[in-house]
Amino acid sequence: MKNILNAQWIKSPKSSGNREVVFSKSFVSEKEIINATLEVTALGVYVAKINGQRVGDFILAPGWTTYRKRLQVDSYDVTGMMGKNNILEVGVAPGWKASEYFGRHNGDLHLGNSETAAIFALTINYADGETRILTSGGDCMCENGKTVHSTVYDGYIYDPAYKDIFPAKAQVFEKDRGVLLDRQGEKVIEQERLEAKEIIITPKGETVIDFGQNMTGYVEFRIKGNKGERAVISHAEVLDAEGNFYTDNLRSAKAQAVFLCDGKEHIHKPDYNFYGFRYIRLENWSDEVKKENFTAIVVHSDMKRTGYFECSDERVNKLFSNIIWGQKSNFLDVPTDCPQRDERLGWTGDAQVFVKTASYNYDVERFFTKWLADLRADQTDWGSIPHVIPNVFGMDDNSSAAWADAATICPWQMYLTYANTEILKDSLESMKKYIEYIEEHSYDGIWSNSWHFGDWLNLDGSSPEDCSKGTEKSLIATAYYIYSTEILAKTMALCGEDNAELLAKRENSIKAFRREFMSEGRIKPEFETQTAAVLALHFGITDNAPETAKQLNDLVTECGHLKTGFVGTPYLLHALSDNGYTETAYSLLLREEYPSWLFSVKMGATTIWEHWDSIREDGTMWSTSMNSFNHYAYGSVADWLYGDAAGIKIDESKPAFEHIVFAPLTDGRLTYVKASIDTRKGLVKSRWKTENGKTEYEFTVPEGATATVILGGKETEIGAGVHKFHE
Ligand code: BGC
Repeated sequence: MKNILNAQWIKSPKSSGNREVVFSKSFVSEKEIINATLEVTALGVYVAKINGQRVGDFILAPGWTTYRKRLQVDSYDVTGMMGKNNILEVGVAPGWKASEYFGRHNGDLHLGNSETAAIFALTINYADGETRILTSGGDCMCENGKTVHSTVYDGYIYDPAYKDIFPAKAQVFEKDRGVLLDRQGEKVIEQERLEAKEIIITPKGETVIDFGQNMTGYVEFRIKGNKGERAVISHAEVLDAEGNFYTDNLRSAKAQAVFLCDGKEHIHKPDYNFYGFRYIRLENWSDEVKKENFTAIVVHSDMKRTGYFECSDERVNKLFSNIIWGQKSNFLDVPTDCPQRDERLGWTGDAQVFVKTASYNYDVERFFTKWLADLRADQTDWGSIPHVIPNVFGMDDNSSAAWADAATICPWQMYLTYANTEILKDSLESMKKYIEYIEEHSYDGIWSNSWHFGDWLNLDGSSPEDCSKGTEKSLIATAYYIYSTEILAKTMALCGEDNAELLAKRENSIKAFRREFMSEGRIKPEFETQTAAVLALHFGITDNAPETAKQLNDLVTECGHLKTGFVGTPYLLHALSDNGYTETAYSLLLREEYPSWLFSVKMGATTIWEHWDSIREDGTMWSTSMNSFNHYAYGSVADWLYGDAAGIKIDESKPAFEHIVFAPLTDGRLTYVKASIDTRKGLVKSRWKTENGKTEYEFTVPEGATATVILGGKETEIGAGVHKFHE
């Protein structure tokens, strides 16, 4: 980023509203060009073109950040895109910055301008040594574009025949360029194209196309229609019990693509919108509906796939595939809760629950580096962490346990998976401020004085009316304080700081937890839930792990199923198998009746649902109020698949798999398991196979790494290479 700092911010002289605005600059270039670079960004989302050709492949650029403090600039090599007479165009639509919903929440968080705007600089180096810099400014033209309406939730309206008959000069305005920064995250790009699987005429008589996979992106379609016709594509994740197109769970999001036909044939896809969907419904469609005229384009951040898992149970393999699709669908520049309804926000809790799994499935180091910088930018002066990052809810003086802890858990996972110490250093002050915030809201080691989401969507007491009811909230909050202080203490040690005082506070809180919520190694009857026992075990709070684990195992086996929500679920299988109850852990994993992971698989899910029963056995829905079919949170079970079923574990003292611990847990209900993770050290693999009562293991250690194999209580040290064991 350099010449853009000398460019001027420009906006439409008319109110841009929810329209696309296209800024343009014409120029003649006659000499031989050595290289040319376009630096560009926008308030809104932009598409830049030179001579009608799209610049770069970044969809929804410049991505979503805490705009009032951080706005990414992209630099594109555009050498070769220019001729003699040139036109540079930058189209801008509201996107996350200026869409109505966000406008309502943003209020004063707008960068002093809720309208769209752009800034750019084109630097051309000629063969004769001359450098020419063309910047955005008052000489740029501005006209309304063919996307005549576009907002994040409602979708867009495209009018191919639209031509603004009053183009005008762009209006220059003053605005701090200090918020500009070079792109920090991954770009979002088109990743896959899915063919239409089936054309369905529903019982209501509607024409619906099934792409066979719930996903995030948009549809490319061929259309002619009749002049003046308003063709409408609606998006949905599921059909209802009768087989009709179902959009109630999108709440206020219209999620439509509207094409105003001009009687000519077009192949069209949106420039500025995305949807979460598996099905589309066509209305006012006078063309013959053919499958080949519709393609779903999957769009997500450009992360490299690193993790694979497979076993002898096809249902578990489908679950794993659904987890991968959950990540693809919700890693669109920020980690979102869901991609379809009027939310699609960077919920902190969801991100921390899934971050470990995410970092095994894909290389998410760059993705989280950017998002964590936004988290720090949005942290309040008094240390609290807003519920969503970027914070579109406005200032937030409340931090919820297990949500705000993204501030410690996510950077720590970047350290574990990638040995990224920079993120730890960058996060240290933010972690400290957050822990101080908790301490100010605690009394005698118990975090009692804040509002919390609790064990969100658990089965101990939550309901559509109150999803947070269940496990005692101060128990959850205190457990998270203990866990987050442990992470901060380790971070301080790695940064060379003295953590003795913090560890003493942590000890005090552990004692308080045991005193308030436990008795003789067990969660007291009035607080007894699976999640309570899971936290006491997994965060190392109990002083009698065998007793707490027995209590947890009894709580599971007595009812025969899990009851955990967002807080307990990620650690449930770990808490069981780490304490000798591997068979119970596998029983939970392999159960397919409600509630369980495989219930949604049995019901035909292609992504992870928000609720254990988003769709019930009889086809009815949990509720319309909050029912996403693409919520990755419960997909966090994949870290148990990698780490325990396949047994690939990180050794904290040598992160990023420099030293690996292989400790697979077998179960008679599976005949084989195999997993691999493409780590910073190279490919790590583990596989086991059971035949005639004998189990064979094979572990692959990359060059430069070492490993400890733990089988049947026996530890063996191994070096790089492929190693076989049997039992
Ligand atoms: C989101 C969740 C989020 C929650 C807060 C919901 O509306 O979809 O995933 O964590 O609110 O509890």
